[in-house]
Amino acid sequence: MDNKAINKDYYDNVYSKTDIDTIVKNIKNFENYYKELTTYHIDWVGFYKNNFHKNVKNKKILELGCGNGTNSAILAKLGAEVYANDISQFSEIIIKKLNEKLTFDKNINPISGDFLDANLESNMFDMVVGKAFVHHLTHAEEDLFMQKIINILKPKGVVRFFEPAVNSRILDEIRWLIPVPGRPSKLQINKFKNWKKNDHHPERDNSTSSYSKIGKKYFKEFNISHIGTLERFSRLIPNGHFNLSFRKHAYSIEKYIPKYINMKFARAQVVDYRFPKK
Ligand SMILES: C[S@@+](CC[C@H](N)C(=O)[O-])C[C@H]1O[C@@H](n2cnc3c(N)ncnc32)[C@H](O)[C@@H]1O
Repeated sequence: MDNKAINKDYYDNVYSKTDIDTIVKNIKNFENYYKELTTYHIDWVGFYKNNFHKNVKNKKILELGCGNGTNSAILAKLGAEVYANDISQFSEIIIKKLNEKLTFDKNINPISGDFLDANLESNMFDMVVGKAFVHHLTHAEEDLFMQKIINILKPKGVVRFFEPAVNSRILDEIRWLIPVPGRPSKLQINKFKNWKKNDHHPERDNSTSSYSKIGKKYFKEFNISHIGTLERFSRLIPNGHFNLSFRKHAYSIEKYIPKYINMKFARAQVVDYRFPKK
């Protein structure tokens, strides 16, 4: 199976079990839910970094790798006209249900299947976004995606991606030694080999330098910032009130750490590309 088929297989299985009613309940409680996500959870704190929510109203936004549709629903609630794409056929099913059960100014437009096959007009979007998506593409796929993104973005269009960051080989090696739910330690040689064989992430470079190269190649401006230098230690604290409080304060304190240190040690990055080179 190629990388796309592996991802489709894996995420079809994940999203076929989606509890849509919980997503609906959360979005109906929008203010509290959005506040909780963007206070404690690294992917949401990162994705909405620098008051990104203020930029989306009335914008035409394509979300790539929209998954269970939560972020597309949030963007729609914030007033964007959202198009949501995912390789999993279940994303479209979920999004149609969200449109039925929730009230948006503009319903979310699902684009099912391979983005590269999607029939989209040139200069159509103000923004293309993705949360934990690009690192699921091989570099060859990423390049093809960017070519299409350049075409469908307006000349003043922007991109925001939230992605894991791997900028220190030593930290990365240590990370593989520590088992996490669903992934054994590298020291458990056979179990690890077996896990790796079935892993749906392609072998690729997730460094900031790799995203910078794409930024330079396809955009007139780009900026990459980092998050999770201190937050990563929350994994050593049992779940509960203290863990949440630690994370909240970690995000605030991290802002004062010099950029070059954050780049090396952060576990995630926020990639902003602006103004496509057409
Ligand atoms: C880690 S999940 C993130 C999902 C969602 N953005 C979130 O933050 O919860 C990665 C997503 O990328 C999707 N994906 C992987 N390869 C893809 C491709 N070639 N085209 C579109 N979506 C893809 C997967 O189906 C999955 O929904």
